[in-house]
Parts: sequence; structure tokens; C-alpha cells
Amino acid sequence: MTTVTTPEPLPRTAAAAEHDWWRDAVTYQLYIRSFADSDGDGLGDVEGIRSRLPYIAALGVDALWINPWYPSPQADAGYDVADYRAIHPAFGTLESAQKLIDEAHDAGLKVLLDIVPNHTSDEHPWFTAAVAAGPGSPERDRYVFRPGQGPGGDEPPNDWRSVFGGTAWQRVTDPDGRPGEWYLHLFDVKQPDLNWANAEVRAEFVDVLRFWFDRGADGFRIDVAHGLAKDPMLPDVGVGGGEASTVGHEEEKILGHVDLEDHPYWDRPEVHEIYADWRRVADSYDPPRLFVAEAWVASSEKLAAYLRPAHLHTAFDFEFVRAPWAAGKLRATATTSLAAHDAVGAPVMWVLSNHDIARHVTRYGKPQDARGTDPLHPYDDAAPTDIGLGTRRARAAILLVLALPGGVYLYQGEELGLPEVEDLPEDLLQDPTWERSGHRVRGRDGCRVPLPWARNGESLGFGPNPGWLPQPPEWAHLSVEAEEADRGSMLWLYRDALRLRRELPQLGGGPLTWADTPGRDDVLTFTRPGGFTCVVSTGRAPVALPAGRVVLSSVPLPADGTLPGDAAAWLLTT
Ligand code: BGC
Repeated sequence: MTTVTTPEPLPRTAAAAEHDWWRDAVTYQLYIRSFADSDGDGLGDVEGIRSRLPYIAALGVDALWINPWYPSPQADAGYDVADYRAIHPAFGTLESAQKLIDEAHDAGLKVLLDIVPNHTSDEHPWFTAAVAAGPGSPERDRYVFRPGQGPGGDEPPNDWRSVFGGTAWQRVTDPDGRPGEWYLHLFDVKQPDLNWANAEVRAEFVDVLRFWFDRGADGFRIDVAHGLAKDPMLPDVGVGGGEASTVGHEEEKILGHVDLEDHPYWDRPEVHEIYADWRRVADSYDPPRLFVAEAWVASSEKLAAYLRPAHLHTAFDFEFVRAPWAAGKLRATATTSLAAHDAVGAPVMWVLSNHDIARHVTRYGKPQDARGTDPLHPYDDAAPTDIGLGTRRARAAILLVLALPGGVYLYQGEELGLPEVEDLPEDLLQDPTWERSGHRVRGRDGCRVPLPWARNGESLGFGPNPGWLPQPPEWAHLSVEAEEADRGSMLWLYRDALRLRRELPQLGGGPLTWADTPGRDDVLTFTRPGGFTCVVSTGRAPVALPAGRVVLSSVPLPADGTLPGDAAAWLLTT
């Protein structure tokens, strides 16, 4: 037996429980444009979410995270924000957003919003003012403008590449009509990077945090939390900054040589000061507000640096997203994550899918040894997907993550077992990656297809009309309506698991002990104090279950006391 040093949680008073609810919370990610469309414009909206709150509450989660809902040209599905203090007209109004926050609270759900501090939209008033004001102005200093290199300044200032493909620099035309400076955009050309060395930028975001905290938001997911600070000298990345974003290697692009020492823009130490300031703002509220960082960094230790006392509370742990479906790798990964988080007193936030990553039914339906090239988007691999196998593994995977210490983020639709839509027609693709890669990388639309709510209808109950992306017709069988009627569905597995997670005191925070399974490197077993065991098999051959009462399993179990391959079981062992 190997004991992981996860500390016993302190005895919790009611007030403490209210303050640290997030330590073992399950949060449901609402990708608003694809959740539920109340008015038939093809895009999901706030009213759609309001109408489906009972569904989310019945699932048994603790919190919601809503992807950006602010006014935006939607060049990157809302991650290009034109106004941080309002709601995009196609999504709703400030008034309807307030109703949603209040109703979610009434239903016992916390509400997390998404803050996008690395860049604004190029249609944000600050950016239009910066272009108009010209070089050297205080308006330009809010962004990262630089003269170009070479004769006439015709070459970009350095070798930095956009995460979505191509150079990270765009030249502007000066107010006098002549070609002018270049601005930095680590993402789309319509997403100019802010200059976080500028005091006005820092003050503005503190004010935006307060704006939403004052309206009852319980916290924020921080977009690209590892990207805000840039080396002011803007040195070349070197090692072929150009290759840092090699088209076709999505993880490489997101990470972009993040493991380099002193990377000029990823994971620089200066970002931590920003979050220490934000923590003070969050702690000035009662109850204190929460942060969860999206930080693609080189190691669990680097991630934990964001979570030191007086810094951020939590960060997504993407290690399971990068790991293949293999017990040994999953165990090693979980051990490393738990140890790194324990060292700073933070809980791990487990993730299997989100709006940037190929859905895990599909990832697990690919040959796991062929995932090396692009673990986040294996659909670029030629290998066909075995959806049945991927679904079976996804059922086991959720029992694994829900039994581990810490919190869990669920991505809408994973509770239905939705796969990646790998064959969307090219003329419908909207992810900027598609254009910026010269039509070589399809991008992330395949995990963003609108949810199927009903067996019939124009968009399977998503809305009265077709949604912004078409659903495969076979999703009728994966609709909420169909799965509610099937006690063996993925939806019911999620509901059962989440109910048990609430009921069983052994689950959530607390220590974990790995049990060795001699001769079986395809089986992972751990116990939680109080007589709980989780067994996960990533192999084919059945494995004997320990003595105890099975309270949940990902597949029906045979009578001989074994667990079949690619399956998981929860047992009470006292
Ligand atoms: C978000 C993406 C977005 C990017 C730029 C990411 O990390 O999750 O959806 O495209 O940040 O804002």
C-alpha cells in the first residue's frame, strides 16, 4: 500500500464549509452558445440556461461556470471581449443575467464567470482609441505596440507565433494613413494582447472583478492565466518561435515551448503578483470569492506555484487530458498532481473535457498508443474512432475522477456521452484556427456542437430552429429525453455517481491510499478512509474485486465477483 500525503481536512464549521465549498466541488461548464437556445437565433442564451436550471440542479453538481457572455464580435466564440460589464445581445441582458445568478443561487448552485484578461477584442473601445491615438500615446501603452523590423519596419518585431497559427503580430495604419506600428496578438488578429505592466490595465480588471462580484458572481475562471506577463524586451522565442506553433500539434501550440526557462510570454513569474492582488479583492467579499486558473504550464509544480497561499485558490489539472487510457499512466499522473497540490495546500481540479479539447469519448475511442502527436485533438490522427469503446472507457473515467480527492469540472454534454463531431462540413467551421492554419487544422468546433435535448425537432430540442452547428442525427439517441428514459444511460451514471459523492462522507477531500495490484499494470485501485475502494481497469482481462459491497459500477458486473475490462467500480468495504 502506498499512502499519498493528502492532509485530513480540518473539521468544518458551517461558516468554514461556506468559505471553502470549492475544495471538493463539482462544477458544470456551460458553453452558453451551445447549451439551449430560447429565441431561435441558433445560439444558446441566458434564457435557455434559466429554463434548464432544474436539469443542472438535478444532475447533482455544486456550481456552474459560464463561458464568456459579454458583448463580442465573436471572432473567437466570445473570448474576444468588447465590453466586460455587459451581456452580448444575442445571449441576453444584464437583467436576465442577474436573474440567472439569483435563480442559480436559489437552486443551491454557485456561479463562476469567465474573465479574459490577456487580450480584448479589437472592437473594444480601448483598442480603437489606441489605433487612433498613434505611437507613444498612453492609449497605445495599454496594449503591446512596437515598430517593425527591417527596411520600412515591414517585418514583425520578433518571431512570436499566434496560438491559432501564423505570426502573432499585425501592422496598423497610423492616423496619417501610413503603415504604422505592429500590435501583439498571441491568439487571433482580433484579440490584441493587453500590456499588464500598465497600471490602468491592472486597475480596470480589479474593477471588472468587483462589478461581477457585486452582482453575486461566486468566482471567475481565468482565461490564459499563464500568459499575461511578457518580457518587456520582447526577445525572440528562439528554438524556432515559428515551430512553437507547428500546425497540427495543438498541444504544442497551446504550450508553445512553455518548458523553456524564462519564456518571453508563457508562465513568467510576474503573473503571480497580479493574482496576489486579485486574491485580496476576492477575500474582501463575504463569503470570499473564488478563482480557477486555466494555465497550460510545464509541470504540476509549475501549476502549484499559482496556488500558493495568498495566490489563486484552484487551477484546472489537465494531466488526465494529456494522459492515455492506461492505468499506470493515470496513477502516476494523479500521484504527481496530488503531491504538487498538497505541497501548497490546494485541492486538485480534475478535468476530462472542455470546449478546447476533443471530447473524451472520442479520445478514448482512438488507439491509445497513437495519441502521441496530438493528445488534445487526436481526431487529426487518421485512426478511426471506436465510439463504443470510447464510451465504455468514458463511463469508467468519470468514476475514477469523482472518487479522487479534490474538485471536478464537467463539460456540458459529457454527461450524455457526446463524442467529438469529427466530420463537420468545412464551410461551417468557425474556430479561427481553421482560417489561420490555412485550412490544415479543423480546430475546436467538433466539441462545441449544440446539445441534443430531445429525440426530435429542428435541432433536437436545442432551440426552435437549427443551431449554429448541426448535430449528427444519431444524437437523437444521446438526447436528454432519450437518456432520461434509459436507466443504463451515461446521464443516469453521472446522476448516480454525483448523488453518491454527496452522500458518502469518504468522497471529496481527504487522503487517498493506492493499493498495489501485483501482476496487473492495467488496473488501478485506491481506497479512501472510512471503507471506500475504487477499482479501475484499463485492460481487457477481468480482475477480481476486493471484498465489499459494490455501490456503483460503470458496466453491469458478472456474478463471479470480477470487474470486466475498461470498467470501474466503487465499493464500500467496511
Ligand atoms: C480559451 C479558448 C480561447 C483562448 C483565447 C483559451 O484558453 O479556453 O477557448 O480561444 O483562451 O482566449
